[in-house]
Formats: sequence, C-alpha cells, structure tokens
Amino acid sequence: MKILITGGAGFIGSNFIYYIQNKYPDYELVCLDMLTYAGNLENLEKAFENPAFTFVRGDISDRQLVFDLFSDESFDIVVNFAAESHVDRSIENSELFLKTNIIGTQVLMDACKFYGIKRFHQVSTDEVYGDLPLDEPEMLFKENTPIRPSSPYSASKAAADLLVLAYNRTYNLPVTISRCSNNYGPFQFPEKLIPLCILHSLQDKYIPVYGNGKNIRDWIYVEDHCSAIDVIIHDGEAGQIYNIGGNNEKANISIVTTILDELHKPQNLIEFVTDRPGHDLRYAIDSTKMRNQLNWVPLVSFEDGIRKTIEWYLTNKMWQGKIFNI
Ligand SMILES: NC(=O)c1ccc[n+]([C@@H]2O[C@H](COP(=O)([O-])OP(=O)(O)OC[C@H]3O[C@@H](n4cnc5c(N)ncnc54)[C@H](O)[C@@H]3O)[C@@H](O)[C@H]2O)c1
Repeated sequence: MKILITGGAGFIGSNFIYYIQNKYPDYELVCLDMLTYAGNLENLEKAFENPAFTFVRGDISDRQLVFDLFSDESFDIVVNFAAESHVDRSIENSELFLKTNIIGTQVLMDACKFYGIKRFHQVSTDEVYGDLPLDEPEMLFKENTPIRPSSPYSASKAAADLLVLAYNRTYNLPVTISRCSNNYGPFQFPEKLIPLCILHSLQDKYIPVYGNGKNIRDWIYVEDHCSAIDVIIHDGEAGQIYNIGGNNEKANISIVTTILDELHKPQNLIEFVTDRPGHDLRYAIDSTKMRNQLNWVPLVSFEDGIRKTIEWYLTNKMWQGKIFNI
C-alpha cells in the first residue's frame, strides 16, 4: 500500500504519519508539504527512521509538480491534510486560503482521476456547518446538516467539500470526506488555543481569551482523529461524508482554567480580548454514523488527553524553541 499524505508536516498530518507507521510499518508513505509557517520538518524527525517514508517539499496547487509526483509514484490512496487552517489569518487575508484549500484540492483530485487512484480522502472540518446556539444543547451537526460556513477559512473548506462531492458524482472519483471537531495533542502550532495556553502559562505570559470565553468547542485528542481517518480510508464507502467528534464539549474558558490548574498557575493570567468577528458560538458533532457503520469510537477522554498534551509540551522544549525562533 502506498499513501500520499499532503500537509504531513503540520499538526494532524504528522500525527497521522506516526499513527500509520506504527500500525502498518510496511506501508510506503510519501509526504507532500510546502512547509509554510505551520509545517515543520522537525515534526517528522522520527518518521524518517522508517525507510518506507519519503518527504517531498511542494505546493499541492502546483499542477506540474503534483502530476510529476503522481507519475513517479503509484499511489493507492491520497489523504489531503494540506491547508491554510487558521481562522484569524483567513479574516486578515483569504487569498491563500482559496488557492491552497480549493485549487490545491482540485489539482490533487485531477491527478487522482488521471492516474486512477483507489481513494481520495479529504480532511475537512466541522466548521463548514457554521455554528449552533449555546442554549440548545441537544442540537448537533449531522452529516446532512446544511453547510453554512462563517469565516473565509471555513468557506474555503466548504467549497472544497462541494468540489470533492462533485468529482464523485461527475467523474465517479472514489472520494470520502471527514468533518472533524477541534483537535488537540502533540505538534500543534502555538497559534491555536490549547498550545498557546500551555506555552504562555509556562512562561507566565497573559493568555488572550476571545469575548467572554463562553464559546463551546467539541474537543478530540488527535490520535482519535487519526484512527477515524484510518478506518474511513480502509473501510469507508466512496461518496460518503463522515463526522468525527470526541463528545467533549467545553467552553474555551474552561479549557484555559483546566490548563492553568494542571500547571499550578494563577487564573489572573487570563486576559479577555475583543471577540473575533463572526466568532462561532458552539460546535458539536454527532458521530453516530462513524460508530454504527465503521465501528469507530474515540478512546481518549479529555482529562487524559489534556494531561498527555501538557506532558508532551513539557518534555519537548527543543521543539518549542525551534517553533518560537521562526
Ligand atoms: N486543527 C484542527 O482542530 C482541525 C479540525 C478539523 C479539521 N482540520 C483540518 O485538518 C487539516 C490539517 O489541519 P492542521 O491543524 O494539522 O493544520 P496545520 O496548519 O498544522 O498544517 C497544515 C500543513 O499543510 C501544509 N501546507 C499548507 N499549504 C500547503 C500547500 N499549498 N501545499 C502543500 N502543503 C501545504 C503546511 O506546511 C502544514 O504542514 C486541515 O485541512 C484542517 O482544515 C483541522
């Protein structure tokens, strides 16, 4: 089995590479990554210990490069993690988001179509559904919830999802899409809430929290996301969308206070800042389809996952140093 993993030098992609290497050491893995500010070869240091792993630096929207790579290698499966992924950056300037997240996906699918790949898997997000009200806890995102993205980031992911489904319908391309909730765990770039909070706490720096901190996210430990993608690419049905969630709804402020408590730091490090424009109130995923059809369940509780994550940041100070020196 040969898998192309795009965006594998980023947070979830690097965790996925390790997950697959551990579970299927014989699989040949090729990582295509442009190494933007969010991509870091340090994340893949141990992956190179397996001779069946190769890294290629390049842009998924570079048609020539992508087609050359597909003609050199005979991929069975493509898993597309490559994306511009930070909402605040998309609000400042969305151009790169449209190029990478939409055009990049189109180029990859054109190559999959031309070279007859068995499966193209698009790693999408629950943010394509927009948000849910805070006061209706029984409401959850299902796979057939209409997409209603709020930010340029989520709009670009939603556009890519529509294109992926259109390639399935029009060209019969064997695609699957997963829409996952917020991930946390090792190797996450410290612009996102949990690593930012851990690293600021360790340095006794203020932790900015948007608005009143009551916005709710459904958190999943990154390894559970990886196991879900593993079952989808092996057993999922072409043309299907699968929601992935951790069943861990938490208000942002409660995440921050938990981390401060775990690190024995004072709560007065919290600094409430002006809310993000269009800030989604609540995300909550119904992953019944994954559980019933693919027998998948998340295994890591939030309490265990957050401890493991804090522990990882404490023991990987070299990684932090390199990230902060960018
Ligand atoms: N982080 C989350 O909580 C979350 C939740 C659900 C879905 N997702 C999705 O999962 C995927 C991965 O997210 P992440 O948090 O690991 O992102 P990330 O920002 O950590 O990593 C993205 C990676 O893509 C690479 N990349 C960016 N543009 C590229 C291009 N044009 N060509 C090749 N490589 C390029 C970057 O160098 C980086 O290594 C994204 O598609 C994101 O939308 C993320």
